Amino acid sequence: MKFERKDFLWGGATAAAQVEGAYDVDGKSLTISEMRPYQSKLDRKKLEDSLKTLTRKSLVDSIENKEGLHYPKRYGIDHYNRYKEDLKLFKEANMNIYRLSIAWSRIFPNGDEKEPNKKGLEFYKNLLTECKKNNLKVMVTINHFDLPWPIIDKYKGWINRDVIDMFIKYCKTLFNEYMDLVDYWLPINEINIGVVAPELGTGILKEDYKSESEYIQAKYQALHHQFIACSKIFEIGRKMNKDIKFGCMVANVTTYPSDCNPINQRENQRFQQLSRFFFYDVMARGEYPSYIWRYFKENNVNLIISEEEKKLLKNNTLDFITFSYYMTGTTSKESVEKSNGNLMSVGKNPFLKETEWGWQIDPVGLRITLNQLWDRYQLPLFISENGIGVVETLNKNNTVEDDYRIEYLSKHIEQINEAIKDGVDVFGYTMWTPIDVVSATTNEMSKRYGLIYVDYDDYHNGSGNRYLKKSYHWFKKFRETGEI
Ligand code: BG6
Repeated sequence: MKFERKDFLWGGATAAAQVEGAYDVDGKSLTISEMRPYQSKLDRKKLEDSLKTLTRKSLVDSIENKEGLHYPKRYGIDHYNRYKEDLKLFKEANMNIYRLSIAWSRIFPNGDEKEPNKKGLEFYKNLLTECKKNNLKVMVTINHFDLPWPIIDKYKGWINRDVIDMFIKYCKTLFNEYMDLVDYWLPINEINIGVVAPELGTGILKEDYKSESEYIQAKYQALHHQFIACSKIFEIGRKMNKDIKFGCMVANVTTYPSDCNPINQRENQRFQQLSRFFFYDVMARGEYPSYIWRYFKENNVNLIISEEEKKLLKNNTLDFITFSYYMTGTTSKESVEKSNGNLMSVGKNPFLKETEWGWQIDPVGLRITLNQLWDRYQLPLFISENGIGVVETLNKNNTVEDDYRIEYLSKHIEQINEAIKDGVDVFGYTMWTPIDVVSATTNEMSKRYGLIYVDYDDYHNGSGNRYLKKSYHWFKKFRETGEI
């Protein structure tokens, strides 16, 4: 089957904290992601274990690491030093776009400095220029799960309105420096994580709140500050360059009702509104949807939002929508067997197979999702993450015969093609990931997603050398022929 759309963008996505390493060089500060240790006894099917709440004490202790624990995201895959080699491989696979993130901690390590860190600016100038040399369009995530620790420590994260100003200053610096080198901007990765895993998303720590209701209030208020910051930078960016393109990024977990019982249908509608549509609604339509006001009322959330902020949201909405798509699940009013998912657990679906981490594979769900989002928003869509994590080792020929990945990717691409035939305006796809990286949730190197194998184990032992998997050659060929 031929892929329909000729001007489609094809590439891969990574995130600074999962690839760069070099956590303490050139003035960089530590980030929340680099302060979660590797857990050797992790139960891969239990999301709660991976996202276990971090205490302030454990975070402070991690700075000097007197216990000698391993913090995988401090090392990543050494992309900081090897990015030229990696970009060349992406280009040789015939990718034409690379989604990367910039580490705030390299540009304003404390958040509140007046002047940016020159060394950090220089690094990204070189990296982005290298992307262009390799004919890669660039999509930049401005903050991908890596809030600098000083912003959490001193300001208590996004709950503090000063952080809005710090983020704006950071973004203005990026626009001034890199406007010509970046094609698409995404302010915050998986913005719905602020509700499901707040310390990672907004940098608020549970222990700082006296009760569950104060904590819920803080989660939504901190998230609101992120929405405001996004609208503000859209306004600023568009004044600087009317052609600048801004998107959102949402962890899209599509769910189906467990059966046709209207009660379960309604439960699914509620779950989808709260876990998914709310975030797109605010950013694409420019206002808080009606169902969330009822939720706020029933949960004693008193959102502080001014008339001026309402206007700001309304006048500064998205140019396009991006989302990550890995799996789907089910919902039900009754208690059902749960399955792990991307940042949230969902009900099992007997029709789907799951990965070792319990993520239920559902290519058709991607077509459904694309149609839903297109019907609802009529904005161009981009799949900014999609892929499969598997434990892999190099065989004697120094490769990995990853037929399961070829199957996963091709089945999803087929469904994108179907959605295009349905009339959906979807214009690009960056797989997670073009190259093995440290896992965001489980911190494992052994949860591998790449077309390119990286020789590091969970403790960062290894040469770090890159090896091409079978899927790399498959992808390259697909790009040459357009045949799925
Ligand atoms: C998304 C994130 O949640 O999923 C990525 O944006 C992450 O950072 C990816 O790596 C896959 O999740 P994990 O936990 O398997 O790495």
